[in-house]
Amino acid sequence: MKQIDLFHPRVFRDQDWAEGYYKRNRKSIEKVGQRLARLLKSMGFTEGTILDVGCGFATVPIEIAKAFPKAKITGIDLGEPLLKIGRKLIKNNGLENQIVLLNGDAQNLQYDDSSFDLVINSFLIHIVEDPIQMLNEIERVAKPEGIILITDLRRGFLAYIIKKFRTAHTLEEATGLLGKSKISYGRFASGPFWWDYIVDNTTMGKL
Ligand SMILES: C[S@@+](CC[C@H](N)C(=O)[O-])C[C@H]1O[C@@H](n2cnc3c(N)ncnc32)[C@H](O)[C@@H]1O
Repeated sequence: MKQIDLFHPRVFRDQDWAEGYYKRNRKSIEKVGQRLARLLKSMGFTEGTILDVGCGFATVPIEIAKAFPKAKITGIDLGEPLLKIGRKLIKNNGLENQIVLLNGDAQNLQYDDSSFDLVINSFLIHIVEDPIQMLNEIERVAKPEGIILITDLRRGFLAYIIKKFRTAHTLEEATGLLGKSKISYGRFASGPFWWDYIVDNTTMGKL
């Protein structure tokens, strides 16, 4: 099945859209955050500085913060209504000392080179205008010995049933995109509805 154009704005700036998006997706994103936390534990991650590029309503950082109480997380997004929801959730979970959310562009990160031990990016590859520019920025701000964890929807058989999956990449298309970026040395893992791309000390990279 062919990829279709996004049927919603790239940046979730609209208050009603953001609230609807939060209500529809909070449970599934919670599970994604928990899955990524388990994955990080299995990789030996324990603590450090984390950047979540395009954090939305911050449920991934919240789950990561709960799993790694010594981690310090910055989430950036251009969608203020989602950041507002995220800040409320962070407060409700008592995680203000661990997570800060800021307005920022995933394609032009406001951080120095080699700033973060871990960079996370969930469900943006099929959303942003220039995913390769975003990937190169992610590579730039991650420490050479750091971890990069990217995940996105996979356009597979679910695309026949659920429209949003039609806007995503197939595993082959994702492989092509990542291969053109500065983090072409990572490894893929995938499930029926998603793919992960992992850069760590088991992949030959910047080190
Ligand atoms: C599908 S949501 C994913 C949000 C979050 N990562 C999650 O897993 O819940 C896509 C997010 O990307 C944000 N976004 C799109 N383009 C962006 C850009 N250039 N810079 C920062 N955020 C962007 C949107 O505002 C939205 O919050």
